[in-house]
Amino acid sequence: MLRSKIGGIGYYVPEQIATNDDLTKLMDTSDEWIQERTGIKERRYGKKHDETTATMGTAAARIAIERAGITPNEIDFIIFATLSPDYYFPGSGVLLQRELGITKTEIGALDIRNQCSGFIYGLSIADQFVRTGMYKNVLLVGSEMHSMGLDYSTPGRNVTVIFGDGAGAVVVQPTENEEEGILTTKLHSDGTYAEKLAFISPGSHGGYHAKKLGLGTEEDFGFDKEIEFGEIFTTQKMMDERQLYPQMEGQFVFKLAVTKFPEVINEALDDVGLKTSDIDMLIPHQANLRISQFVQRRLGLEDHQVHNNIMKYGNTTAASIPIALCEAIDEGKVKKGDLVCLAAFGSGFTWGSALLRW
Ligand code: ACO
Repeated sequence: MLRSKIGGIGYYVPEQIATNDDLTKLMDTSDEWIQERTGIKERRYGKKHDETTATMGTAAARIAIERAGITPNEIDFIIFATLSPDYYFPGSGVLLQRELGITKTEIGALDIRNQCSGFIYGLSIADQFVRTGMYKNVLLVGSEMHSMGLDYSTPGRNVTVIFGDGAGAVVVQPTENEEEGILTTKLHSDGTYAEKLAFISPGSHGGYHAKKLGLGTEEDFGFDKEIEFGEIFTTQKMMDERQLYPQMEGQFVFKLAVTKFPEVINEALDDVGLKTSDIDMLIPHQANLRISQFVQRRLGLEDHQVHNNIMKYGNTTAASIPIALCEAIDEGKVKKGDLVCLAAFGSGFTWGSALLRW
C-alpha cells in the first residue's frame, strides 16, 4: 500500500536576534522571569518591510524542495499553515506560489488556520492526498511573523516574550518502502475555550461570543452598540484600548497542554501497536520549555529522545515543529529507521500528533 514520507525538509529563521534583555527596554520584564517560566533566552524577528510570513516560508521551502530532489515546478499542491499571514486575505499559500516562481499550470494552494497544531494538521492532509495517489509532491509550510503583531508594552508582556519568527517546510512524497514514512496522524479540537488563547479583533464577531459566554458587553470588546451597519471590524476604541493583540490565559493553557500532549501521543502509539519506549525522537511543538519537560517526564523519555530549541527561537507556532525536526536531523539526532513522534497543542483548542518512520 502507498504511504507518504517527508522527502525533503528545510527551515529559515531571520538574522535579527531579540534577546530577553532587549525586551526589558520595552516592557517591565526580566531575563530571569522569562527563562524561569518559559526557557526562552532569545528569539528571531524578521526584517520589517523586507521579510514576511510568505517570504520566510519561501526560503524554507526552497531548501526542502532542493533536498527532495525536485524543482518548484514539480510541486503539485501547496499547504500553508500560519496564524500571522501577510494579508487577512488572500492567504499566504498563493503568495508563496508567486515567490517560488511556480509557473507550471495552476496548482492548488490551501491555507490552514490551526495555530500551533497547523503543521500536524497540514501533514495529515498532505498524507491523505499522497496516499490516495492524488498528488506526488505536496509542499507543506509552517511560517510565522509574530513580531509584527505583538504588544510591546507591559500589559502585553505575558504573550509577547514567548513568540518569535521563523519558517519550516517539508515536501511530502509517496513511498512504497514499508520501512519508512508516515505511520499515522491524530487530530482533535475543542472550541469550548476558544477565547483562552486568541487574537479576537479585528473580526466579524461584533461582541457576540463574549456576550453569550458572559465575558462582557459589546462595549467591553471595543464595539459601539449604536452602530447598525458596518464600521465594527476595527474600531478606534479597540486601538485606544490596545485590544488588537493576542491574549492568553497562560496557566489555563499550560494545564490543558500537559494533559493533551501525552494523550494524543499515546493515541497515535496505540493505533500502530507501539509504546512510548519505542520513540527515538519526540519533537513537541515548542510552546514553552516547561510544557515540553513536563510531557517528557510524563512519557518517561530520556533527554536524548526529545529535541527542544525554544531557547533560541521562542515559540514559532506553526513553524516550530518543522524547524525543530530539521534541526534535529541536521544535528544527526534522527537517523534512518528512527521512530519520530511529532505533537502539538494550541489555540482553538486544537491538537494532534504524527508518528513517522524516518
Ligand atoms: N515578565 C515579568 N512578569 C510577567 C510577565 C513577564 N513577561 N508576564 C507575566 N508576568 C507577571 C504577571 O503580570 C503576574 O504578575 P502579578 O502576580 O503581579 O499579577 C505574574 O507574572 C504571574 O503571571 P502568570 O500569568 O500567572 O504567570 P505564569 O507563572 O502562569 O507564567 C506563562 C506565564 C509563562 C505564560 C505560563 O502560564 C505558561 O507557560 N503558560 C503556557 C502557555 C504557553 O506556553 N503558551 C504558549 C503559546 S500557546 C501554545 O503554543 C500551546
